[in-house]
Amino acid sequence: MRSDFSLRNVVIAGNWKMNKTKAETEAFFDAVKEVEVKAGVEAIVCVPFPYLITAKRLTENTAVQIGAQTMHFEKNGAFTGEVSPVMLQDIGVTHVIIGHSERREYFNETDETVNKKVLAAHEHGLTPIVCVGETLEQRENNETLSHIEQQVSYALAGLSAEQVKQTIIAYEPIWAIGTGKTASSEDANEVCAHIRSVVSKVASSEAANEITILYGGSVNMKNIDELLATSDIDGALIGGASLEADSYKKLIEAGNRRK
Ligand code: PGA
Repeated sequence: MRSDFSLRNVVIAGNWKMNKTKAETEAFFDAVKEVEVKAGVEAIVCVPFPYLITAKRLTENTAVQIGAQTMHFEKNGAFTGEVSPVMLQDIGVTHVIIGHSERREYFNETDETVNKKVLAAHEHGLTPIVCVGETLEQRENNETLSHIEQQVSYALAGLSAEQVKQTIIAYEPIWAIGTGKTASSEDANEVCAHIRSVVSKVASSEAANEITILYGGSVNMKNIDELLATSDIDGALIGGASLEADSYKKLIEAGNRRK
C-alpha cells in the first residue's frame, strides 16, 4: 500500500514525562514562544498535570499546543488521584498520550483500558496519541508485527473511520525509549507502514492514508531528519530531547524542513 505523505501534518510532540519545576516550565515556554511552525506542522508539548494550566496560558497566541500524558476514561467520580477527559477539555488541552509503554509497564494499562481511554478522548474532543511498541524479546522472536497489529486493533476498536483519522499513533519500540538506541529509519518505517495496513483493515484505506503515525524512541536533532524522510513516519514523539527549549526548537525546524 502506498501512502500519500502530503495529505498529513508533520507532528513534533514532546513528552516531558515526570520532569521539570514550575519555574523551568515557564522558562521553557518563554524560550519557545516565538518559534516558527510552518503550515502543515504541529508542535505539541505534553507536560505534567500541575503545569497544564500554566503551559496553556504561556502558549496562548503561539503555534504550540499542549497535551497531557494520560487520563482516566470516566468523566468524573470516585477515582482518587485521577484526572478526567472533561477536566482536560475544560482547561483547553488538545492532546493526550494514551498507553505509553511506561504506563503499561508500571501502572497496569492494558489494551482494554487503552481502548476505553481512546474512545473517551474522542468523546470529549481530545486527540489521543496512542503508543504501541514491542519489547526487545518480541523483536528478537520476530513477533513485532503481530504484537503491533494486536495493540493497534485493540486501541481502535469501536471508533468510527472519522475518529480513526483523528487519532495519532506513536510507534515506540520499548527497547529504544530513553536508551539512546534508535530503530533504524527502515525498521521504524516498516512498522509504521504495517500500522497503516492494520488501520486499513480495521477502518478504511482512506483512514489508513490520513492517520498520523509518529516514531518515538531516542529521537534527537541528529536522527530526526532521516526518520522524517521515510514514506510512513509523519513525525516524532520525543522524550529526553524535548526537555530543553533549544533542542525542541531544532526538532520543530526539522518538521518545518519536511513540509
Ligand atoms: P525518549 O522517550 O525520546 O527519551 O526515548 C520517548 C518516549 O518515551 O515517548
